Amino acid sequence: MNKKYYHIITYGCQMNEHDSEKMGGILEKLAYIKTSEIEKANIIILNTCMIRENAELKLFGKVGSLKKLKEEKDDLIIGVSGCMMQTEENRDELYKKYPQVDFVMGTHNFYELPEILQELDKSKKRIFRVWPEGKGLLPELPVSRAEDFKAWVSIIRGCNNFCTYCIVPYVRGREISRPINDILTEIKKLVINGVIEVTLLGQNVNSYGHDLKENIDFADLLAEVAKINGLKRIRYMTSHPRDFTEGLIEVIKENENICNHFHLPVQSGSSRILKKMNRGYDRKKYLNLITKIKKEIPDAGITTDIIVGFPGEKEKDFNDTLSLIEKVRFDMAFTFIYSPRPGTPAAKFNDKVADEIKKTRLQRLMEIQNKISLKKNQEMLGKNYKILVEGESKNNPDNYMGRTFNNKPVIIPGFKSYKKKILEVKINKVNSFTLYGEIMG
Ligand code: SAH
Ligand code: SF4
Ligand code: F3S
Repeated sequence: MNKKYYHIITYGCQMNEHDSEKMGGILEKLAYIKTSEIEKANIIILNTCMIRENAELKLFGKVGSLKKLKEEKDDLIIGVSGCMMQTEENRDELYKKYPQVDFVMGTHNFYELPEILQELDKSKKRIFRVWPEGKGLLPELPVSRAEDFKAWVSIIRGCNNFCTYCIVPYVRGREISRPINDILTEIKKLVINGVIEVTLLGQNVNSYGHDLKENIDFADLLAEVAKINGLKRIRYMTSHPRDFTEGLIEVIKENENICNHFHLPVQSGSSRILKKMNRGYDRKKYLNLITKIKKEIPDAGITTDIIVGFPGEKEKDFNDTLSLIEKVRFDMAFTFIYSPRPGTPAAKFNDKVADEIKKTRLQRLMEIQNKISLKKNQEMLGKNYKILVEGESKNNPDNYMGRTFNNKPVIIPGFKSYKKKILEVKINKVNSFTLYGEIMG
C-alpha cells in the first residue's frame, strides 16, 4: 500500500501548537506519516488563530496559495481547524470563496478527525462541522510531539475572564480543568520516556482546579508535579496577574525544579485602562505582585505582554505604561498594537486611537524595553548559568541554543551531542534579545 503523509501548519499560541500535536497523534494512529514537505502531503491541515486581525489575512492568503496544489493532486485533502473556525463569518468566507477546502472542524471537536475523514471518503462532499460549545472534557488523545526531551502538557482549556479586547473566551469556551491524576500520569510516562522539561498549558493556568470536585488549586498541582522524579524543569503558560497567589510564589521558591520564570501579562500600566480591559487588577496590585516575586526569588526572569492603543488610551495612560516598564524592568515584553476583534466588547468602545499614534507608541515602547532588556542581559555578563540545550540555533546551524532556568536564550558553539543536555555556560556577549556563552562544563 502507498504511504500517506500529513502536514499541519499551526498559527497562534502554544495551546494551538499542542492541539496540532494531538491532531498529528490522531493521524499517526490512522497510519499517516508526518512530513515537513507540503507538496508531499496527502492531507494538509491549517490550525488557525484569530487573536489579532493579521492572523486572518495570513490564513486566507495561505489557503489561496494551496489551490494550485489541490488542482495538481487529485487525492489531496485540505482541512482547516482551530479558533478562527469557531466564527460563522470565517467559515462562510472559506465555504464560499475557497472550494479547495474539504473539511472544517473547530476547537471543541477536532478529535472527530477520524470520523470526518471517513465520511469525506464515503460521501465525497465537503464537511464543515464545528460545535459552538464544548461538551465537557476532551478525551485523552495520542500526541505526536515535536521533541522527545521537552513536552507541553495541557492542564486547563478555555477561559472565563472575558478581557474586553480578547476573542479567546468566545472561540475556546469556558474553563475546564483536566483531572490531576490524568496530568500526573501523562507527565510520569513522559519522564520515563526521557522528557526532562514540561510546560503546563492553559489560557489562565492559575484558575486550575476551581471547577474540580477536589479542593485543589494550581499551587497544589505544581507541588505534585515537582515531586516527579527525574523531571528537571517545570514551566507553565500563561498565568494571570490577578490570580497569582503568595502560596504559588512559595511553592515555586521551595521546589528547585520549578523554573524561576514569570510571564505575567500586564497589558497596560494605567489603572484606568486596565479597568476598561476588565483585567481584575490595577497598577498598584500588579507592582505589589512584582515586588513580592523579586523579594522571594531575586534571580527571577520576568516577562510580559503589553497592548498599546486600546480605545481611550490617552498620552497619560501610555506614559503610565512606560513608567511601569521602567519600574518593573522586564527581561522581555511581547508588545502588540490593539486590534479590534468583532464580537468583543472593546470593538464597540468609542474613542479609538488613530493608527499613526498606535504605531508611534509601539515604537517608543519597544525602544525603551529593548534598552531595559539589554541592561538586564549585560548584568549577566561574566556569570555562569545552567542551560538546557534545545537544538541548533536558527540563524547559524553550527551554533546551539539553550535556555537558562529563567528562560533566557543563550547561543553556544557546539555539537549535535549537546542537544537535550543541561550544561554550565559563562555569558560572554549579549544584545537585547540573545546571550552568547562559552561552555564551562
Ligand atoms: N491568556 C493569556 C494571553 C492570551 S493572548 C493572558 O491572559 O495573558 C496573548 C496576548 O495577545 C495577550 O496577552 C494580549 O497582550 C494580546 N492580545 C489579545 N487580544 C488582543 C487584541 N485584540 N489586540 C492586540 N493584542 C491582543
Ligand atoms: Fe484573553 Fe484575558 Fe482570557 Fe487571556 S485571560 S485568554 S487575555 S480573555
Ligand atoms: Fe490564537 Fe486561539 Fe491561541 S485565538 S492565541 S490560537 S487560543
